[in-house]
This record gives sequence, structure tokens and C-alpha cells, in this order.
Amino acid sequence: MKVFITGNIAESGIELLKENNIAITQWKENRQINRGELIEVCQGFDALVSVGPNKIDADFLNACKHLKVVALHSVGFDNVDIKIAKQLNIPIGNTPGVLSGATADTAFLLMLAVSRKAFYLHKKIIKGQWENYEPTPELGIELNGKTLGVFGMGKIGLEMAKKCIGAYGMRVIYHNRHKNEAAENEIGAKYVSFEELLEQSDVLSVHTALTPETKGKFNLSVFEKMKPQSIFINTARGGIHNESDLITALNEKLIWGAGLDVTNPEPMNADNPLLNMESVAVLPHIGSATAETRSAMANLVARNIIAGLKGEKLPHQVF
Ligand code: DGY
Repeated sequence: MKVFITGNIAESGIELLKENNIAITQWKENRQINRGELIEVCQGFDALVSVGPNKIDADFLNACKHLKVVALHSVGFDNVDIKIAKQLNIPIGNTPGVLSGATADTAFLLMLAVSRKAFYLHKKIIKGQWENYEPTPELGIELNGKTLGVFGMGKIGLEMAKKCIGAYGMRVIYHNRHKNEAAENEIGAKYVSFEELLEQSDVLSVHTALTPETKGKFNLSVFEKMKPQSIFINTARGGIHNESDLITALNEKLIWGAGLDVTNPEPMNADNPLLNMESVAVLPHIGSATAETRSAMANLVARNIIAGLKGEKLPHQVF
């Protein structure tokens, strides 16, 4: 059996595949494989590991009907046409759970960095602009006792909420399609309407999937309803916020700051105005990028491939 992997995954996953006598070919170029190349190369393989935003859409799936399994190196599966995969009976695996802690750490890091203008002040030092000590300019805001609003209380949202309660005794409210009773019982999170989430959150952190319902959800009319002292955090998908509306909201001081690990498009252009704003911190989609988490993700990817090639249900199957 042969698997094609579209990027570098942690060695533990590669070893596991080898132990199961699966022959591995990896994309080694320093750029994302393009669609035509991926379709062509997949003709010679039984399974695919998709690393990054490859579109596993109807055209791809119809051209690669012979694939026995596709394993995503991500929890998000907005790049996959699940309906067509189901119709063609190509199981799709993903990596939930193992990356929740690391991704929540990234959201927490952005929240703290924004609240103290850390990235902006760091850039000033690099530019030689650390002058004399002044007690009042460029002040941050404190997080103690503030309200965290979680948009999408799943595994990652819950981890973020726990960190904010532990570090700052924050009150937690959330909005989901359905109530998360387990989160309510475990940490006392309170379910609120979307409007209430906007009106009450001091920090609003997005942890939902990108779907037709969440695409562009955070636009100008939404930012207008948030508190002028609030911080917007997105570690989920860049498509969930409207980037030019976010820039307007920050310029017009509708909200206080923003922390982004995801942008639209990715990579973000180096001349994006967000990169020079005082209360903004941007990271290059590193949510799950720790050695431990990437190793756990690679193991899960390998287990999904091994099961798929045996015709078994995947340990984490999207459908
Ligand atoms: C995920 O796991 O979905 C990460 O955002 C990487 O794409």
C-alpha cells in the first residue's frame, strides 16, 4: 500500500506508517503542492495525507475515486466536500482532541499580547524607538475578573475558558448552535444569545469551524455591537471574520484590539495595516505548532491511514 503526504509531518507518524509496511512518498518542495499536481500524483497512490489547505473538493474527489482514505493533518475540514466524499465512500479522517491545549495556548498568548500591546512594543525596540521611561503612554488593559466570551464552545473553547478562569478568574459566557451542558457543569460557563455575547464580552474568542453559517460572521455590524474596550481573538479560521471590517472597527475604535492566528488570505501580506496597529498581534497560523502536539497529530494521521487502508472505521472519521 502506498501513501502520498503533501508536507512534512512529525517522524513518529512516519515511523508508525513504516511499521505497518506502508510505502511513503512526501512532497518535499518549499511550496504548497498545487491542485493539478496533487490530482496527477494521487493517481499512483492508495491513500493521501493532506497537510495544509489543499482543496479536497468534488473535482479532486471525482478524479481520485480510487483513494481508500484521506487523512487530514488538521482538526478543521472546511477544505473538504464531505457530501461528495460520503457519496464516493472515501473516508476522511481528522485530528481532534490532541491539539486542543496547544491551540488554546495560542489564543491565550494572543489575548495577553494584545492586552499589553506586546507585539507593537517589541517592534518599537527593533526600530530603535525605546526612548526614555514614561509612565503613561501605550498603556494596556488588565484581564482580571473580565468576561470571556467563547464563540464555539467545543474542546478548544473549553481549554481556553479553563486557562482564563485559572489565570484571571474570568467569567465565561458562550454561544453555540446547541448548549454545551458538559462545559456548563464543568466550568460554570453560561449560554447566551449571539447578541448578548457581543454586548457582554471583554474578550471574544472564536473557536468554531468555518461553515456557510460562520463565514464572514464577524463583520462591521457585529463589531459595532461589541464593547469599545473589547479584544477580538480568532485562532479558528480567517474566513470567520471580515478583515477589512476588522481594520475599520479598530481604526474607528469600535473595539480595542485583536489577536489573530488565522487571516484571510493566508499568508497575510506584509503590508497589511493590521501589522502596524498598537493593539494587534498576528501569528502565522501556529495554533497547534508544538513538538508534542504535532507528534500526536502525526500519530493520529498515521492511525487514520492504517485503519482506512484495512477498510476499517477510522479512529477519527469526519463522516
Ligand atoms: C487545524 O487543525 O485545523 C489547524 O488550524 C491547522 O489547519
